[in-house]
Parts: sequence; structure tokens; C-alpha cells
Amino acid sequence: MSNDETTNIDDLLLENRKFPPPPDFQERSLVAGTQLYDEAARDDEGFWARQASELLHWDTDWTTICEWDLPYAKWFVGGRLNVAYNCLDRHVEDGRGDKVAIHWEGEPGDTRTITYGDLLVEVKKFANVLKSLGVQTGDRVNIYLPMVPEAAVAMLACARIGAAHSVVFGGFSSQALADRINDAEAKVLITADGGYRRGEVFPLKGAADEALANTPSIEHVVVVKRGGNDVEMKVGRDHWYHDLMADVSDDCPAEPMDSEQLLFLLYTSGTTGKPKGIMHTTGGYLTHVAYTHKYVFDLHPDTDVYWCTADVGWITGHSYIVYGPMANGATQVMYEGVPNFPGNDRFWSIVEKYKVTIFYTAPTAIRTFMKWGIEEPAKHDLSSLRLLGSVGEPINPEAWMWYRDNIGAGTCPVVDTWWQTETGGIMISPLPGATTLKPGSATFALPGVSAEVVDDGGQRIDHGGGYLTLTRPWPGMLRGIWGDGERYRETYWSRFSDRYFAGDGAKLDADGYLWLLGRVDDVMNVSGHRISTTEVESALVSHPSVAEAAVVGANDPTTGQAIIAYVTLRGGSQVDEGDLRNHVAKEIGAIAKPKTIYFTPDLPKTRSGKIMRRLLRDVAEGRNLGDTTTLADASVVDELQRRAADSPSED
Ligand code: WT7
Repeated sequence: MSNDETTNIDDLLLENRKFPPPPDFQERSLVAGTQLYDEAARDDEGFWARQASELLHWDTDWTTICEWDLPYAKWFVGGRLNVAYNCLDRHVEDGRGDKVAIHWEGEPGDTRTITYGDLLVEVKKFANVLKSLGVQTGDRVNIYLPMVPEAAVAMLACARIGAAHSVVFGGFSSQALADRINDAEAKVLITADGGYRRGEVFPLKGAADEALANTPSIEHVVVVKRGGNDVEMKVGRDHWYHDLMADVSDDCPAEPMDSEQLLFLLYTSGTTGKPKGIMHTTGGYLTHVAYTHKYVFDLHPDTDVYWCTADVGWITGHSYIVYGPMANGATQVMYEGVPNFPGNDRFWSIVEKYKVTIFYTAPTAIRTFMKWGIEEPAKHDLSSLRLLGSVGEPINPEAWMWYRDNIGAGTCPVVDTWWQTETGGIMISPLPGATTLKPGSATFALPGVSAEVVDDGGQRIDHGGGYLTLTRPWPGMLRGIWGDGERYRETYWSRFSDRYFAGDGAKLDADGYLWLLGRVDDVMNVSGHRISTTEVESALVSHPSVAEAAVVGANDPTTGQAIIAYVTLRGGSQVDEGDLRNHVAKEIGAIAKPKTIYFTPDLPKTRSGKIMRRLLRDVAEGRNLGDTTTLADASVVDELQRRAADSPSED
């Protein structure tokens, strides 16, 4: 059980299934052996420098690969490059202007096909629009858009002129938008009238207007027409995107920027305190995302059709819709809406229609698909798929198997990719042509990345559960928190000396594979055993009737904390609470048996799809709910509270 006498996290779950790369996949993969690992182990900075020079165009070479003054890193110091040039111009100059950059599909079914040539013209024009509105290198521009191509255009136009963007997810409230605009002191806001979601237009401009009542730094607002809904346009301040674009020049040279020029801010809400403006810069970030996008997804840009289902408002959208794929000249699908409009098979109809080969989504979506049943993917020809990816939360081994079997025809490798807004790009992941997979494990740190699991006292451990830390700087790492250097040091560099601590628990198995165990704040303490929520959830999800589970530790007079589980069943399934408790005991041990299980059709999640265990703990302990503003659907917890008030053994 507990690995030593220290207070580390218990290691309960044993997963023995192994999947080596399929021979035909391996044969045509970019990396089939250990060469990248070996090279990076010999000289990690030299390794990153080779990636930077091979994958990107630099106008001026750097003089120093990495300057490391803990906790501050600079990469490719003295180097100059333009991100938009790297994502667009050079592909067009190389004769790939007619290659499709984006197959865009609106939720109502309308489509747009945008080539690299088209995108370049649009970005140059919009960069000139921004200049005409007074935006200069070093300014901040806020973006609050639905999933329309203009979101990518706006980001790349900022990059082209060296203005930093700050994208706020379109599902966030006007207050969240105002806070982020004010923290960044943005000059311009780019928004839309509205966008489509579940068959209806959600108004964005109205929310933006509310925010704009309290954002003194904003001088101009650019409005993309998408929803067709009525909006108010304030004369002198608000301008239609299509009007501004109608007669602007498409001549806008890409000026080389310093490698450490601020590329963007992206705010993370975290669980407490005011949102943190995570800072990412130019040369290191672009190197990191281009490298990881190429090798983790084994990208063959001439034949692959890549689809990442994230929203551009999250870091996944920044790194793996805009910057990584476009730096690599990929062809991708971009979809505006929800997975269940008009039917629960919308994603699979898109995969079939565009012959998607690489599909990247989140565990929350996979578990939802499990709930909807295998009939939905079975309605479509998914044989174009050759690689599947997952990001955002630990993926339970059974969800991983379901994904591989029902979406990936039992043959596609599944890459579980661990990273964070703060890391900028993927850090821990298999290389699909080289790594033998274990369902539910993110496997190993990528070549160039140094991850270690440590115990409470900061000592490195080789086996068992502990804290996931990073020991060396990496090119895509955050450069700080906007306006708050102290908070940066305190949040990431103070728990363990000389190490970046990400807040996640992890364990190493006997073969050295890494398993993410969720946030250490969520770890439960049951009779002195420190049990990760992830392992109990995975045990629950391994029951054939269960699609999704969330567990929390609630105060208990005898055991310190007791395990309370919230469980969503697969479509049409039923199960007895006692049987499910015994199933957990059998899978991972009696100590991890939930005291109570509540069945629920939905779990409370953040807008990016992460389960909010803090709220479930409040419900379980009968407390008034704390901050619920980051919740995607508040009615879910109301329902859970109602059920908790009823007899717990019911249901
Ligand atoms: C947190 C970061 C990275 C893009 C999306 C989320 C969790 C992320 C995994 C994974 C287990 C994961 C961690 C991490 N997480 N990917 N593959 N396995 N956990 O970015 O919102 O900054 O969240 O998401 O807890 O710290 P984010």
C-alpha cells in the first residue's frame, strides 16, 4: 500500500495491459526508437536548439540557448523571429498557399474552406486594421470570440505586429471579461455579435457591452458578424470587422520580434484568488508547440487531417489549434459548436466528412460519449482515424480502452498528454511510434523535459506516489504572472526548492511509467491512508455500467475523511450501490471503498470540462456552496444538494 513510512500518496491501482505501437503505424512514424530521448539526455539545451532551428525560421540567430536564473528562464536569447511568418508566410512562399489550413464547420452546418494563402491575406489585412486603431508592439489586445476562423486571424494578426493577445473564452461572463481586460490594460477588444451553441445564438456583444462599461483602457471594439443577432454599436468606439477589412491594404511585412517578446497572456482561474495572467513569449513557446505537435501527433502534414476539439479560449486552443499546427503547416478541422447538435453523433459525422486522421479531445468528452453509448460512433465510418489524443484530466483506464476500441477501431494508439496552461505545451506523453502504451498512463516525460516525482520532503522517488515536479526549464514555460512576480515565485517555485511544482500528484510504476493522480489538494485521507481521487474514480469507471465518477473526501468522525462517490451510469445501465462498493474493494482494496455513492445524471464541471471536486465536497459536508462562478451549469449542483438532503441510501 503506502510505499514507505513517509506520507506519500498510496499506490493502489494496478494496470497491466500493454499496447506496443502497431507495426504499420510504427513503420511510417516519425520516431520509432529512442533516438530523440538519447539525444536530449546527452544535452537537453542542444536538443531544443536543434528543434528551434529545424522547425522554425529565424531572422536573427540567438546567442544563448537558455538563460536560467531560477525561477526566470529566457530561451534563444538574442534571436529574432515572427510568429505569423512562421505560421503562414513561409508555407505560402514554399508553394503551399493552396493547402487547406482550416476546414471550418459552423454548428448550423455552414462551412468555410480556408487555405494558407487565404489566411495570410486575412491576417495581413487585420494586422493593418489593428495598426490603424492605434495598436503597437507591446500593447495588449483582448479577444472574446466564438469558435470562428477570425479568432485565429486575430491572434496571428497580433503576433504579426508584436502585440500580445489575451483571449477570454466566449462562455465567460461579462465580469470575468472586464477583470481580464483591466488586469491586462488592453487597448482593443475583438468580439462578435454572437455565436451558435446548441442550435441557438448566444449573444456575445451584449456581454461585452456590460464589461465595457468598466474597462477604461479599451479604445476600440471590433465586432465580427456571426450570430446575426441585433447589437448596439457605439459610434466612434465600435466597428464591424467586415467594414474595417473592406478597404485596408494587404501589404503588411512581418517584422522580426525578439525571442522573448510577450506573445500572449492567458488567464487561469485556479481555485482561489484572482485569475492569474500567465505570460508566454515568442521563440521558446513556438519551438515547444511546433516540436510537440509534430512528434506527439506524428504529424505528416501532406496527408493528415488533424482535429483538436478544444476552444481557442483555452491553452489547448492556443498551442494545438493555432500555433503548433500552423507552424507545422497542418490541415485541420475547426468546429464551432457542441458535440450533441443536432444529434449525439455530430463529432463522428465531422470525422467521417473531413476524413480526420488525428483526433485530440478531453476525458470529459470521452466519458460523455461513453454515456451516450457506442451506437453513436457506430453510425459513421471512422476508418480515417489513425491516432487519438487526450488532455485535461487524468483519463481512467476504462475510458482510455473505450476510446481506443470504439473510436479508434481497437488499433489507433491513444496519446494521453499531460501539461498545463503554465507549461505552454505538452510535457508528458507517449511518442506513438515509439512508446508501448498502458491505458491511463501518460507514460514518460518527452525528450527535452525533466520530470521527477518527489515525496513530501522533496526527495526524488523512483516508485510509488508523490508530487509531480519539473527540474529543468523548458522553452514553453510561463515567463511569469502578469504584474505579480511574487505570486509567480510563491505559486510555482516555493513548495520544493529548485523545482517547479505543478500541483498534481503522480506515481511511478515498476516499469517507470508515470500515472497522473489528480490535484494534490483533492487527495483524501482515510484512516491515515492518502488516497488519490483518480484511482478510486478509475476503479468505479472500470465497472461496465459506469461512465463517469467523481469522488471526494468528506469529514468523518471515525476515519478522518470518508470517500463519497458521485457516479453517472452508461446509457441504459443500472447497478446496485452495494455491488459497486464491492467492485471498488475488489479492484483496489477495501480501504478505498466509498462510504456512500450517489447516482447522478451529471457532474459539476468547469467551463473547460474539469470536475469540480471542491463543490462536491461542500455538498457532501452539507456546507453552503462557495464560489460557483466557474461552474459550467449551476443546476447540476442544485440537483445534487437536493439528493444529498434526501436519504443517502435512496437512488
Ligand atoms: C491541469 C492543467 C493542458 C491543457 C488543458 C488543461 C490537468 C491536464 C492532464 C492529463 C492528468 C491532466 C492537471 C493539470 N491535466 N492534462 N493528461 N492527465 N491530468 O490546462 O486548465 O491549465 O489545467 O489539468 O491537473 O495541472 P489547464
